[in-house]
Amino acid sequence: MALATIQPELHQRILDNLSLAVMLFKPDLTLIYANPAAEMLLGVSVNRLVGLPFEEMVKAEASLKQQLVEAVETNHPFSRHELAVRLMNENDITVDITVNILQSGDAEKQVLLEMEPIDRILRIAREDAIVAQQATAQDLIRGLAHEIKNPLGGLRGAAQLLERELESEDQKEYTKVIIDEADRLQKLVNRLLGPSGMPRNSEINVHEAIEYVRGIVLNDKPDIQFVRDYDPSIPNIMGDQDLLVQAILNIANNAIEAMQGKGKLIIRTRIVRNFTIGPKRRRLALRIDVIDEGPGIPEEIKDKIFFPMITGRAEGTGLGLSIAQRLVTQHSGLIECKSEPGKTIFSIYLPVDNADGDN
Ligand SMILES: Nc1ncnc2c1ncn2[C@@H]1O[C@H](COP(=O)(O)OP(=O)(O)OP(=O)(O)O)[C@@H](O)[C@H]1O
Ligand SMILES: [Mg+2]
Repeated sequence: MALATIQPELHQRILDNLSLAVMLFKPDLTLIYANPAAEMLLGVSVNRLVGLPFEEMVKAEASLKQQLVEAVETNHPFSRHELAVRLMNENDITVDITVNILQSGDAEKQVLLEMEPIDRILRIAREDAIVAQQATAQDLIRGLAHEIKNPLGGLRGAAQLLERELESEDQKEYTKVIIDEADRLQKLVNRLLGPSGMPRNSEINVHEAIEYVRGIVLNDKPDIQFVRDYDPSIPNIMGDQDLLVQAILNIANNAIEAMQGKGKLIIRTRIVRNFTIGPKRRRLALRIDVIDEGPGIPEEIKDKIFFPMITGRAEGTGLGLSIAQRLVTQHSGLIECKSEPGKTIFSIYLPVDNADGDN
């Protein structure tokens, strides 16, 4: 096929898959075109956007509108960095904006505006660093757990042998303490080491996994109101169902503990497009939100909750989230968290398509 014949389709594909929001305006700054990334950003479909004036979609300081008007008059491109804007879906974000004036022959000028949210870039950079730090902390702890495991087995075995030799029940009380405490440590060490063996991948229906978690967490919890907000169009993904159930379970347990067993627990599933997870751009990802109305994450540990042994609860071991994080990372996903008193959201992102390049 000649290049000329595939080009229009190619251009369309590029625009459709760009993570950069691209908008095209008439000289009076009413919209002619928006690509899917722009639709996503504004939270409104292109059909409803066409014909709207710029300032209705993106509210920013007056100088931006002024610059746009001047750019149309003078044909001069410009860019603005770290501009605070409010989008029509009420989202307040920081963006980089680049504006070019397109003109060919006698046709009317067009204003090409590219908009890139920089919060997202910052977030991704932060996550990469955090994930790397956590991996180091986890390796350290797992190494330690390994070192403890064998001598612990030896101790327990020796205490059992000793118990058999002892005749007085009073003395057996002591060996019993050794054995019980060794068992308690063994459980802790096993949690620190995490699930053993390779993940067993198969096709998973996330809603089935969530329903399974629901069955476990609602057991004996009559005062928890469980609300399902599922997107039924979410396709199955490849993964290890047991591991994924464990990750969601750890997060849901925290939510219920935060609400002290009383309140509304919402689990919401959604499809997200053009999402970056680690180094990879995913065309399609799914998001599982676990939302509770508890008091929120204590301020002192907010930045550290995914680290092992960090807990805000007297009886907590501080392992739940670090394990959840590891399991989700094994599935090429990530966990994010937003928390304020009365509303805490933990979001698990998982890729749906595995075929997107290594960009
Ligand atoms: N939904 C939530 N609301 C408020 N605080 C939370 C929430 N989820 C986690 N936290 C805080 O983060 C801490 C760490 O959670 P994590 O699950 O890692 O450990 P834990 O629950 O303390 O112990 P474990 O899960 O090992 O029994 C919790 O102790 C709690 O203070
Ligand atoms: Mg926990």
